[in-house]
Amino acid sequence: SAAEKGGYDYFMLKEIAEQPKAVADTLLGRIDGAGSLTLDEVRISAAELREMDKVVIVACGTAFHAGLIAKYAIEHWTRIPCEVELASEFRYRDPILDQQTLVIAISQSGETMDTLMALRHAREQGAKVLAICNTNGSTIPRESDAVLYTHAGPEVAVASTKAFLTQLVACYLVALYLGQVRGTKWADEIRDVIRDLSQISGAVERVLETMEPVRELARSLAHKNTVLFLGRHVGYPVALEGALKLKELAYMHAEGFAAGELKHGPIALIEEDLPVVVVVPSPRGRSVLHDKIVSNIQEIRARGARTIVIAEEGDEAVVPYADHVVRIPATPTLLQPLVATVPLQVFACELATARGNEVDQPRNLAKSVTVE
Ligand code: G6P
Repeated sequence: SAAEKGGYDYFMLKEIAEQPKAVADTLLGRIDGAGSLTLDEVRISAAELREMDKVVIVACGTAFHAGLIAKYAIEHWTRIPCEVELASEFRYRDPILDQQTLVIAISQSGETMDTLMALRHAREQGAKVLAICNTNGSTIPRESDAVLYTHAGPEVAVASTKAFLTQLVACYLVALYLGQVRGTKWADEIRDVIRDLSQISGAVERVLETMEPVRELARSLAHKNTVLFLGRHVGYPVALEGALKLKELAYMHAEGFAAGELKHGPIALIEEDLPVVVVVPSPRGRSVLHDKIVSNIQEIRARGARTIVIAEEGDEAVVPYADHVVRIPATPTLLQPLVATVPLQVFACELATARGNEVDQPRNLAKSVTVE
């Protein structure tokens, strides 16, 4: 009913709008007054966490994209090697797991069969499993050694939005906590990021306030057949998520590519007026990445692409090559997905509506896939 949707036409719109709160709620009570993380609920002792020599993340769909982003954070802040794998592929390839492997299973519903089977397999091999889950008391957390709940609240729309942002927050918390417990050389950076994370909900709010041009752009592209998405570093999984949303909702051909791979194939796809969404890393921090992606935008523009550029406020270098610029607030490099994903959700939702699709219940899809 309209009341359930809080005045929005679709649950998806309501859930997109709830993201600042979902993000804030997922941080609540997990950062102490001194700016350290207190994840006591993760019932794997600090001593055990110090022993871990590998992290393996398993998940499906949108949760898998959260896992891909987590890998960058975990390896950077903890120096522990981290693999990310689709849960449906994981156990069939005889993965190497033991007591020193921390397996992280990410699932909104906690009922996805592929993810459940992957975690069962991991535990049989002696690995410890930490679930990141949005549904209290669901099967995946019940069968795990520990759980860190995301506090997105119930997500009804089939395409995941607020659950994704909170999965990212939970992944950052785990990565930072591992770094904190293991006392890495990044201690100062970790403290700064914890501070930035506690302010990120306001940044998500600001993105939401500026989405009208994105909706307008989406409507103008409703007749297109294909949209490509490019990103690099953590922007690459964001590109994958943007493409997934468009497939799920708009039933359009959409692909996400690592921008550095452009020259190895995808650039052959570029033709006149093809919409290409590019997620641009911050010009501060790892500025090499920024410069490389600006040349990518230049390359595809020269071949006729219609460039839709998601870039940080104040990043003027992209302007000469962008047909459309979508501004996002400045964040530390690793946290950018929390703000960069939001315009892509809005874009897919509006495009789907413009094409007359049922946004909350896309054809052929289920909210939770409880069969293998
Ligand atoms: C289905 C849903 C996706 C979701 C995936 C994983 O495919 O349609 O939105 O990302 O399952 O679900 P989970 O509940 O495990 O996060």
